[in-house]
Amino acid sequence: TRIYIPSDTTAKALGADRVARVIEATAKEQGVELEIVRNGTRALYWLDPLIEVDTPEGRFGYGPVTVKDVDSLFAAEFWSGETAHPLAVGLVEEIPYLKRQQRLTFSRAGVTDPLSLSDYEAHDGYKGLRNALKLEAQGIVDAVKASGLRGRGGAAFPTGIKWQTVLDANSPEQQKQKYIVCNADEGDSGTFADRLVMECDPFMLIEGMTIAGLAVGATQGYIYLRSEYPLADKNLNAAIESAYANNLLGEDILGSGRHFDLEVRVGAGAYICGEETSLLESLEGKRGLVRAKPPLPAIVGLFGQPTVVNNVLSLAAVPFILDKGAQAYADCGMGRSRGTLPFQVAGNVKQGGLVELAFGPTLRELMFDFAGGTRNGRPLRAVQVGGPLGAYLPESQWDTPLDYEEFAKVGAVLGHGGVVMFDDTVDMGEQARFSMEFCVAESCGKCTPCRIGSTRGVEVIDRIRAGQNVDANLELLSDLCETMLDGSLCAMGGMTPFPVQSAVKHFGEDFVKHSTSEH
Ligand code: NAI
Ligand code: SF4
Repeated sequence: TRIYIPSDTTAKALGADRVARVIEATAKEQGVELEIVRNGTRALYWLDPLIEVDTPEGRFGYGPVTVKDVDSLFAAEFWSGETAHPLAVGLVEEIPYLKRQQRLTFSRAGVTDPLSLSDYEAHDGYKGLRNALKLEAQGIVDAVKASGLRGRGGAAFPTGIKWQTVLDANSPEQQKQKYIVCNADEGDSGTFADRLVMECDPFMLIEGMTIAGLAVGATQGYIYLRSEYPLADKNLNAAIESAYANNLLGEDILGSGRHFDLEVRVGAGAYICGEETSLLESLEGKRGLVRAKPPLPAIVGLFGQPTVVNNVLSLAAVPFILDKGAQAYADCGMGRSRGTLPFQVAGNVKQGGLVELAFGPTLRELMFDFAGGTRNGRPLRAVQVGGPLGAYLPESQWDTPLDYEEFAKVGAVLGHGGVVMFDDTVDMGEQARFSMEFCVAESCGKCTPCRIGSTRGVEVIDRIRAGQNVDANLELLSDLCETMLDGSLCAMGGMTPFPVQSAVKHFGEDFVKHSTSEH
């Protein structure tokens, strides 16, 4: 019997490796023949480590399994599938949390062995690239445009238009070297979707980048990976090696005469290196200072050459689009938000994990119908969507549909799909202070509103919280936020006011409460 034990960083942190070792030893001892496959993860984290057993009806799951459950699992002959074991969760694909998702990008996560190229190909892998090889560059760009895909790093700029800019950035006599750069510096609090792609389905990212190379005429790609992701580094490099060995990267991709090389570069732990221009500086071996835009990286990017800089999730969506067709992707979603966004639900949450959804359901549905509310059962009070630079949403905004434009209307962002939930014990004054402090720590220092403004912001919030001249200081904070919004060179300083202003606006009592108690 074949069984699956997850192997991503979260499952490992929850003891999956030890569980695998104990199951292997016990099977040997008891003479039970088990083939153990280390799959990625389904990212239903409250069930991890989720052990799955192949049965004729589908995969049957048990979770969360710890070492001390192994004896009882063997006593219940768990490998036979359906048993009455208390950890049995039934057929995995029937679990509502998973069944109600639209997993287009994450269709293989937890299903396949991340490092098996044959498994990848058996699950539609490299079909998109094979189709792309039959198209002209413009045909590939047109498909991405028609899919409606927008940048999944957070800014939601149309990916096809970015690719068009790079494709066009070439007069025939110039023959410029172009680059594909994957931004894998996933720094937002509570996010892990990029990591999951790289740990659980690395060939998908490689395939997406190769297609991007064909689309714009780039022959070299770099994945700029945050240093905090060692397993992603390992899996990406192993997958790249096997892609080279199978003619899927290199001089003559699948005998087409087309050329694409790919390397991983590891960052050094700066949040700002997730900003595309400082990422390029870092990739060039320099300090991660933000560059002024224009010129756009699409025109003057890495080493001064036309460069596509895309987030992991944007590139990972491309194989599906080229395989199943632009329309299949565009059919999902609402308004101008087409396709799916993999939401990552974290914080005080009962059922944390990855929820890939077509745009359209409300934030409330995501937080309650999928995530099941708070873990400790206390009332949910605030939720931050879109990372540390995203606004906090109070309950009055939870019926906002998950859609870029609808979120913008309430002064919030979807960003990279990170959703961090807070219960009613949260002190929003402290959260606002933290936003400014984060900016102090992570500012690249190039422009004044961000470098100095954030330090002043911490001081002003401290004064408000200490009850000193509250009204005057609130006004000062408001002015400071406006200055940062209008005067910062990049999103770091330009978006830090979002969480601060939303905390003041919707949770003002936390600031006042503090001040009156100190009077
Ligand atoms: P941006 O709006 O300046 O640019 C978006 C992208 O479109 C860039 O790649 C830019 O070069 C490109 N672009 C703009 N106009 C173009 C044109 N005419 N032709 C071709 N390309 C064009 O936004 P930015 O500063 O790149 O990103 C800010 C976003 O990053 C925020 O909304 C935030 O949500 C997100 N973010 C994500 C983080 C993460 O860990 N994923 C961390 C921090 C912020
Ligand atoms: Fe650097 Fe902050 Fe200015 Fe961005 S806003 S360029 S991080 S100082």
